[in-house]
Formats: sequence, structure tokens, C-alpha cells
Amino acid sequence: MPTIKDVAKKAGVSVATVSRVLNKSGYVNAKTEKRVLLVIKELNYTPNAVARSLFKKQSKTIALIVPDITNPFFPELARAVEDVTSKAQFTLIQCNSDEQIEKELQYLEILKQKYIDGIILVSNSMDVKTLKALNVPVVLIDRPNEPSIPTITAKNREGAQLAVRYLLSIGCKKIAHIKGPAHVVTAKHRYEGYLDVVKSEPWFSSELIIEGQYQVNIAMEETIRLLHERQDIDGIFAGNDLMAIGALKAAQKLGINVPEELSIIGFDGISTSQMTSPELTTVAQPIYNMGAMAADKLIKMIQKQPLQMPYEELDISLVVRQTTRREKE
Ligand code: RIB
Repeated sequence: MPTIKDVAKKAGVSVATVSRVLNKSGYVNAKTEKRVLLVIKELNYTPNAVARSLFKKQSKTIALIVPDITNPFFPELARAVEDVTSKAQFTLIQCNSDEQIEKELQYLEILKQKYIDGIILVSNSMDVKTLKALNVPVVLIDRPNEPSIPTITAKNREGAQLAVRYLLSIGCKKIAHIKGPAHVVTAKHRYEGYLDVVKSEPWFSSELIIEGQYQVNIAMEETIRLLHERQDIDGIFAGNDLMAIGALKAAQKLGINVPEELSIIGFDGISTSQMTSPELTTVAQPIYNMGAMAADKLIKMIQKQPLQMPYEELDISLVVRQTTRREKE
């Protein structure tokens, strides 16, 4: 396998000159450049990526760390990130942390040793000090932490308010909430949005709130239990689409008609929400835009360009489908 030294020797130039030709950095006269490129071709030399990143202290790689690659929200996010990073000639490394801080820290350490150029992170437990000590550009996505860290998130609390107000507007009399994991900030904000709308209703009680852990089956089991105890519930707002699908499965197991007897709204707008029967009404996050904007922000940081708005909260939208009864005439 020819090395950069072999190229330099055969072309009669220094290794530094070959490196300048490879990296298109610094001055090399046209005749010398032409000779070096010819030798590279003759020897069929390809730069060693590891050596290159050691020399340049950069690797043209970006990492995306997400908490659960089995949740369709994150692959849809990753699709957008990859579209933007590959267009800018970066390789994307995708990592799954299982919501474990230890795994997140492990990944950050390994990625730093590999001279990662930047990291897009969905994390709930990473502290800002650790992120800043990395000395690597980081953009937080989906789960905000501290406004000093560039972030792309969505209007979670407003989205929850929109969902619950819509259920009231179509005539729902008692609305339950399936909450995501207590330690996840997006779940907390959506729970708060639900409370904003219902806490002063005469029928509200904390029994109407169940835990779904952002998972289909846990949400389904909990919804079955709740609907057994409370047949008067006629509306459910779930903190993400997977839990809404769990609630739909629960209703179907109990022979409850959706939407006539029970209306259900989810949150995310993952493509799976169109594949259920009936199709899921949901509060859609701009998933693709979130991923694309986060990648764009990170590349600007890597290229040391100034960021106009480091912290951005994107609008959400209500997508009315078939799991909510028709609006009152
Ligand atoms: O469905 C997974 C959830 O985790 C999404 O709602 C997303 O916002 C993330 O926080």
C-alpha cells in the first residue's frame, strides 16, 4: 500500500507539498501539482483517513446521538441530518444511547478521540459543563437543555395545549393524558400543556394521567386499566404517537369505537401515524426541518461561521385525521 512518503519520493517533493496538494491548502506551483497528481494516480495512492485526521485534527465526520433508534421519530430525524451532512461532504456516524447517560458519555469520549468535527445530541441528562469541556461543536436537538447551547426544538407545551383544546372543541367531556418518561423534558412540557388547559375543569383529577414511557405496549396496558376504571373518559391526549397507537390498540381490545366513543390525539407526526386504522390525529413536529436545521447549524459552527439564532423553537401543527370525532356543526 503506497504511503504519502512514496508519493513525495517519486515526485521529488516533500511530504508537506503532497499534503498541500491533497488538501488543496497553501501554495503549490501548477507544474509541481500536476506532477504530484500524476504520481498519485500512477501509484494508486489513497490518503489514510486516520492519518489525515491525526494530521489535520479533523475527520470530516459528524455524529448524531439519539436515545431510541426503534422509535420512528429518530430515524426520520436522522434522515434529514444525513441529507444535509452528506451534501456538505461530512460522514455521519449514528449512535444510540438508550437514554443512558453512561452510554452518552462513552460515545462523547470515543468520538472526541476520533477527532469528530461536531455532534448533534438528543439528550436529557447531559450537563452543559461536560458539553463545553468537550471543546467540540455541539447542537442539541429535540430536548432543550440550556439556551447557551445551540438548540433546535419544537413548541411542545403549545402543541399539547392545541391538542387538548381541540378535543374540547369537538365535544369531549373528560380528557385523559398519557405521559412520557418523567425525566424527559419533552414529555414534561407536553404534560404541562395538558394541565394548562384542564387543571381548572371541574371534572379534572390526577387519576386521568397515566404513564406510557413513550412506548406502545406500556401505553396500551395502562390505557386498558384506565378505561376499565373510568368508562366516562371520551378523549385522550398522548405525549407521543407511539403511545397514542397504544391507546388505539387498547380501545380496540375493549370494543370501544374510535372516534365515536373515544377520541385520541398523538404528538410527533411520524409517518406511522398515517398507517393505523383509523389513521391517527396528531400534533406534528417539523421533524425533517428540525434535523436539517440542526445539521446546518452544526456545519456553520464547524466552519466557524456566526449563528444568527443559536436557540430555535419551531412551530408545530395539528393534523386532523380519523381518531377524533368530527367537529360539532
Ligand atoms: O417519540 C419520542 C419522543 O421523544 C418524541 O416526541 C420526541 O419529541 C422525543 O422527545
